[in-house]
Amino acid sequence: MKKIIIITGVTGQDGSHMVDYLLKNTDYEIYGAVRRLSVKNHENVPSLDNPRFKLIDLDLTDGHSIDRKIRDIKPDYFINFGAQSFVGVSWDTPRQTFETNALSVIDILESLRSHCPLCRFYNAGSSEEFGNVIYSPQDESHPLRPRSPYGASKAAARHIVKVYRESYDMYAVQGWLFNHEGTRRGEEFVTRKISKGVAQICKLIEKGQAFPPISLGNLDASRDWSDAEDFIHSVWLMLNQESPKDYVIGSGESHSIREFIEICVAAAGLEGHWSGSGLEEKYIVANHLLEENNLKSSILIDINPKFYRPAEVESLQGDCSLAEKELGWNRKTDFKGLVEKMYQNDYRLLSE
Ligand code: NAP
Ligand code: GDD
Repeated sequence: MKKIIIITGVTGQDGSHMVDYLLKNTDYEIYGAVRRLSVKNHENVPSLDNPRFKLIDLDLTDGHSIDRKIRDIKPDYFINFGAQSFVGVSWDTPRQTFETNALSVIDILESLRSHCPLCRFYNAGSSEEFGNVIYSPQDESHPLRPRSPYGASKAAARHIVKVYRESYDMYAVQGWLFNHEGTRRGEEFVTRKISKGVAQICKLIEKGQAFPPISLGNLDASRDWSDAEDFIHSVWLMLNQESPKDYVIGSGESHSIREFIEICVAAAGLEGHWSGSGLEEKYIVANHLLEENNLKSSILIDINPKFYRPAEVESLQGDCSLAEKELGWNRKTDFKGLVEKMYQNDYRLLSE
């Protein structure tokens, strides 16, 4: 009998990479859970024609739909990547964020306990749970100090996963994954907003056309950024240990939004410099193409306070030494390689 996996969030970044990873590395049958939307958004799911991959309807805010699918399919693994994953919007939709990210985890665990208690469960935890950090880099012992409704929802889910693991001896884990990005990253996240924005500006400069700046919020924040494809392997390793345990997965480095912009601009073959401070800060492009084309616009980045958050996680940096030692996990792509990969992908997409 082939093993069976349910994955939520397959229209998103991590879920879709997980489908690709499991189709390549296992012979398991994979059920990808999607919620009903008026407009189909399956661009990230390239495996729709594979007979080992099927889509099922499951909405994380509907406990009945979760229970029905688990009861009928009885999976060997349940990987929960589905979430309201955007920190910035979680202040606008705190209840929906909590229902999707935390209450749903109770529904999944209860249903697994009833219908397939041996199923191995992974819930997508986040470095946002560490929030207002008290030391760097953050390891598995760092206290949970969330700063957003999103962070609080993931911290609540973590507690419930641990409670079920300890109460019912279930294989249930929740890694602390630090920021991971890539070519399938949603366009509202800062990395993709920059890589796509710079690629669009580069195209306009090449055509001799003026360009609008990319408007951003807090440039001082720094994050531990890695390649999402590297992280998928760590999730699978976490699910296949002798006994369940949660691990921090990160790069050990922290880089500011400014650094991301500078590397991205260099990848585009442009040169620039910072000017001003606070709300007046700008990144100005200097390039012979601008002069040749007599372009007046040269501001690549400006600040719009609407992108500031009510509370900010200023800096994140993960200590993944335990995962390296016990899981044997390592990442392949470094920070610069990630930024260049994202920029080149966006430039290529605009050239098609
Ligand atoms: P993503 O690209 O935003 O994908 C989120 C997925 O969740 C989408 O497929 C979305 O479906 C689905 N979803 C949202 N609400 C749902 C609902 N009510 N029912 C069913 N599915 C629903 O996020 P990601 O970057 O891949 O992240 C995957 C998971 O890891 C998330 O739990 C996120 O919070 C967590 N995480 C991410 C990072 C990171 O840096 N990427 C770091 C730590 C933790 P639609 O297409 O229908 O919206
Ligand atoms: N999105 C966005 N847009 N962020 C901006 C902007 C902007 O215009 N300008 C500055 N930022 C700053 C944010 O204030 C934050 O400090 C940082 O850029 C990163 O923001 P996001 O890219 O939205 O990611 P995030 O770190 O808040 O959350 C991501 O990583 C978490 C793990 O640490 C998401 O993937 C979460 O789902 C994930 O849990």
